[in-house]
Amino acid sequence: MPTPREQFPKLVEYIKGFRATYLAAAGVKLGLFQKITASPGLTAEQLAADLGLHAPYLLTWCRTAHAMGFLEADEGGRLRLAPGFEPILAEASSPWYYGGALGLIVDYEARDLGRLPELFGSGTAVPFQARGRKFSEQVGAATAGLHTLVARKLLPEVPGLSERLSRGVKALDVGCGCGGFLLALARAFPAGRYTGVDVDRPALTSARKAIRAAGFARRVKVKAASTDGFPLTGPFDLITLVQVFHEIRPDLRPGILGECRRLIAAEGWLVILDETYPSTWADLRAPENSRPVLTAFSELAMGNVIPTQAEQESLLAGAGFSVHTRATVGDGFTLLTAQPR
Ligand SMILES: C[S@@+](CC[C@H](N)C(=O)[O-])C[C@H]1O[C@@H](n2cnc3c(N)ncnc32)[C@H](O)[C@@H]1O
Repeated sequence: MPTPREQFPKLVEYIKGFRATYLAAAGVKLGLFQKITASPGLTAEQLAADLGLHAPYLLTWCRTAHAMGFLEADEGGRLRLAPGFEPILAEASSPWYYGGALGLIVDYEARDLGRLPELFGSGTAVPFQARGRKFSEQVGAATAGLHTLVARKLLPEVPGLSERLSRGVKALDVGCGCGGFLLALARAFPAGRYTGVDVDRPALTSARKAIRAAGFARRVKVKAASTDGFPLTGPFDLITLVQVFHEIRPDLRPGILGECRRLIAAEGWLVILDETYPSTWADLRAPENSRPVLTAFSELAMGNVIPTQAEQESLLAGAGFSVHTRATVGDGFTLLTAQPR
C-alpha cells in the first residue's frame, strides 16, 4: 500500500506543471523568450528596461524560468534560452512552436476548467462555434505546427499520395477553421485546388482574410457548412479532417462521414488526424494515452467527446470507407487513412 508520503509528490508535480504552464505562457505573451533568443546574455534588468516591464517581476520570472529549466543563467544573471527550447517557445514558424497552444490554455481552457464544478450538475457545454472569432483564431494559432507537420511530412508519407499531391489534387478540408491547414497545403503543393468547409462562420471570415493575404484566392476557397451537409459537388481526390472529428457532435458524425463518402473520388483518400480515447480502464493510464485522456477532460465544457478506436472504425465502415492505416503521431494523435469501399 503506498503511503501518503509516497503519493504526495505526484500531486506536487501536477501543481508545478500548472504553474510552469502560466510561466511559459507569460513568457510567450510578453515576448521574453523571443527577446532572450535574439539577445543571449541579457540580464533580467536589461530585459525589463528593453521591454518596458517591471524589473522586480521580471527578475522573479527569470529566476523561476531558470529553476524550471526553460532558461540557463550564469552567476552574473546573464540569460539564454535552454538549448532545444528555441523552436518550441520563440520561433512562431516552427512546427514545434507551442506558443499558440499555451495562449489557448491560459486564456480559454483555464476558464472552462475553473467553471467545471458548476457545470457538473447540468452537463451544460458551450460548443466551439459559439465562442467567437478570437477563440477560433487562437485555436488556429494552436494548431499551426500540426498543419505544417501534416502537410509536409504525414500526407506525403501516405503510400501513393505524394505523387498525386505534387501533380495537383482537388482537396477538401472539413472543419477548416481559420484555414491554416488549407494554406499549409497550398504552400506545400502549389498545383492543387483546395476547398474548406466549416460551421464556424467567424472562423471562415478569418480564413478568407488569411487566404487573400497569402495571395491564394484563386486556388483556395472556403464555404459555410450546415450541420446537415456541405454545399459542394465532388469528386475530391483528398478529404482531410485535422483535429475535427472529436469536435463534431456525436449524433452528427455519421452524416458528416456520409457527406465525405458522397464527395470523395473512387480512388480518393480520406485522412483524419484526431485523438483516440482508450477503450479500457487499464489503458487510461498508458503514458501514450495521456493526450486524449486529458483532452477529453479539458474539453468537457465544449461538449466534445473523443471516440474510441472501435467507434471510429464502425463509423467509417458505416459510411462506406475501409481503413488502410492507423498510426500514432506526435504526442498522442492518431492518423487514420481510409478509402471508399
Ligand atoms: C479544433 S478546430 C480545428 C480547426 C482546423 N481544422 C485547424 O486545424 O485549425 C475544430 C473545427 O471543427 C469544426 N466543426 C465542428 N463540427 C463541425 C461540423 N458539424 N461540420 C463542419 N465543421 C465542424 C469547428 O467549427 C472547428 O472549426
